Amino acid sequence: MPTLFDPFSLKGVNLRNRIVVAPMCQYSAVDGHTNQWHWVHYPALARGGAGLVIVEATAVSPEGRITQGCTGLWADSQIDGMARIAADITAEGAVPGIQLGHAGRKGSANRPWEGDDHIPSGETGGWDTISPSAIALGGNLPKVPRAMTIADIERVKGDFVDAAQRALKAGFEWLELHFAHGYLGQSFFSVHANQRADQYGGDWRDRGRFLLETLAAVRKVWPEHLPLAARFGVIEFDGRDDETLAEAIALAKAFRSNGLDMLNVSIGFSTSESQIPWKPGFMAPYAERVRQETGLPVASAWGMDDPKFANSAVERGQLDLVMVGKAHLANPHYPHFAALALGDARSASVLPDPYAHWLRRYRLMEFAPAR
Ligand SMILES: Cc1cc2nc3c(=O)[nH]c(=O)nc-3n(C[C@H](O)[C@H](O)[C@H](O)COP(=O)(O)O)c2cc1C
Repeated sequence: MPTLFDPFSLKGVNLRNRIVVAPMCQYSAVDGHTNQWHWVHYPALARGGAGLVIVEATAVSPEGRITQGCTGLWADSQIDGMARIAADITAEGAVPGIQLGHAGRKGSANRPWEGDDHIPSGETGGWDTISPSAIALGGNLPKVPRAMTIADIERVKGDFVDAAQRALKAGFEWLELHFAHGYLGQSFFSVHANQRADQYGGDWRDRGRFLLETLAAVRKVWPEHLPLAARFGVIEFDGRDDETLAEAIALAKAFRSNGLDMLNVSIGFSTSESQIPWKPGFMAPYAERVRQETGLPVASAWGMDDPKFANSAVERGQLDLVMVGKAHLANPHYPHFAALALGDARSASVLPDPYAHWLRRYRLMEFAPAR
């Protein structure tokens, strides 16, 4: 029975434990290029002890960014900065991963702390968005996207392939395709966003075609010995969950036959009508079902950061890897404190000596929010 701090191997890659720094956009790039912010941020998280650090959703084309601050790998000039991040994550003992994505109809937005809403095309940071059908998400993202032509679809698949090759050149050893959270891949799969009448819309096979073809094309250039994963929203919490889950699992099986090594089980976020039952670890049972029915190793996030919960999810075979997001922003040494909380003797081993000596018996103080 594996525990949170047991190593995990997939293809030719070995993680020192089962904690993953979830991909988290920093909205701090300029023209898709990384800078000092990213060069310090990612290695610092790796130094904290996680087994795998996944760099934020990185756009495969300029229009595929969520905001103008998103990182990109659509140009060769973006490789060097990413190579620096990959090398420094490796030097800190973690495996460097990266998520590649296209924002689709959720692109052309303000940074979250600047409003998180659409910027009109033509204004700084605004551009025309594309999606399977000309249907807006709504809410704070009302821009109506242009329905993609077959030529657009071919171009975007090619953009994913080119970006994957750049990620490989940069030294990443783990690639995650972003097919979740209402961005382009998820939009093709979602009945809320895809009403196409051609071979890319209709039943789940046709709604899954863009995702499957993109995956298969990337697999051809991403080496067999390195893991290829996808983050995929398997449920929308929109009242048709049994159907969506069954279709998502069927598509995930097809992903597996086309070379997928792991599924990061997540939420669709394709409609503002969904009622998400937020509570710690609520996605774990869905991840477990995907794991059982597809035979794929799975990871998942969303409030998994209670160390006892994370450890028991691994022990019970619900999850192979636990993705931890905000807790890592709050405390880059989350893995050390998680091990301490579990009474795992390996707590000090996830910290480098200059920290470990002092923190072995140190307890984090809990701060009550100011009133
Ligand atoms: C600042 C921030 C940026 C995020 N960016 C991404 C991203 O680039 N790609 C992605 O798939 N999810 C992204 N997410 C979602 C996280 O990967 C994760 O699923 C979420 O934070 C829930 O996990 P947590 O409860 O451990 O924070 C982001 C979340 C945060 C807080």
